[in-house]
Amino acid sequence: MKIKIGLLGLGTVGTGVYKLITSRGGHIRESTGVYPEIKKILVKNLNKPRKVKVEGLLTQNAEEILKDKEIKIVIEAIGGISPAYEYVKEALSSGKHVITANKELMAKHGEDLNETAKKNGVFLKCEASVGGAIPILHQIDRLKITDEIDFVGGIVNGTTNYILTQMSTKGKSYEEALKEAQQLGYAEANPDYDVKGFDSLYKLIILMRKVFNVNVPVNSIRRSGIDGIAREDLDYITEWGYKLKLFAWGKKIENGVFAGVEPVLVEESNILSRVNDVNNAVILKGDSFGEYVFVGKGAGELPTGDAVVADLIDILLNYNIKDNDAAKLLPVRQGSFTDTFY
Ligand code: NDP
Ligand code: HSE
Repeated sequence: MKIKIGLLGLGTVGTGVYKLITSRGGHIRESTGVYPEIKKILVKNLNKPRKVKVEGLLTQNAEEILKDKEIKIVIEAIGGISPAYEYVKEALSSGKHVITANKELMAKHGEDLNETAKKNGVFLKCEASVGGAIPILHQIDRLKITDEIDFVGGIVNGTTNYILTQMSTKGKSYEEALKEAQQLGYAEANPDYDVKGFDSLYKLIILMRKVFNVNVPVNSIRRSGIDGIAREDLDYITEWGYKLKLFAWGKKIENGVFAGVEPVLVEESNILSRVNDVNNAVILKGDSFGEYVFVGKGAGELPTGDAVVADLIDILLNYNIKDNDAAKLLPVRQGSFTDTFY
């Protein structure tokens, strides 16, 4: 069987998702029994050159996706709060499953949107919103079953890690390195979100919701970024035998959580000092497994697209039992065993 998908956005993430779904559709069907097909793609500008062939698929009218009953899954990759929030809310309310890469949306409205998804019996998934390609939310779901996790933290922004690496190892200026991160598709539409630590903060909130089951308001966490860092600062830091990393962390304490986003010095012997460029690292500490460090590409077209597709596969694996249309397509034959086979 086929399932129709509506894609919101065809920028860095949307293009990665499109490439993977169109090139790996057969593999997805082999594993899930369902062939995913992108029916419509919402964009802002119909005349913009695209990296993929999408004739006849583009629209500027979100209703063509949200009101289309044939579309069962919506993938949101436009970013920001409005209209992303309204679109995701409407999709969930009308019984569509939603996958989003939008950390700001999930950090600020995740509680409400999760509730809407639950009320409507649909999935809301956001693996791509944290750690790029690292399947960290899936992993936390698994670990939580048997472990008490009391710490989550790490390098969760690819742009700032890229800038710091390029400045300290290649002698580039802050402006030059930031420009490259933008050209590579790592940075947010407004790169202040990266360099001032907002993006790391949003990801931390999503991680803490998953790990500690808490909804932490965005403005309750102290945040600083890397925007004040100069090349000379990094030269001294390297000379002293350290690396600078933008670190986001949350720790369970007796009556709540202790959390922050800030640049920290790490010794060269520390594993985090070897997490460079666009790579991210997420550390978990739990009572049975001890400590894990998950490392992988934190941003970019295909790594992020892959995380979205991981959510898609999860939904498809559950699709036959969740969806009424699928049930109709797999009718139970009436009659006796001998009637059917002889
Ligand atoms: P881009 O700016 O590259 O792409 C955004 C896309 O959304 C564009 O296709 C744009 O249309 C479309 N769009 C934006 N606003 C509207 C609107 N109001 N109506 C219709 N279409 C709209 O962003 P990214 O792909 O980089 O990021 C998308 C989301 O994914 C963000 O939430 C980001 O934080 C998140 N993310 C990004 C990662 C990355 O590596 N870049 C990694 C993980 C998550 P048009 O093309 O016509 O301009
Ligand atoms: N701007 C983000 C980053 C994209 O650089 O990490 C991935 O979430």
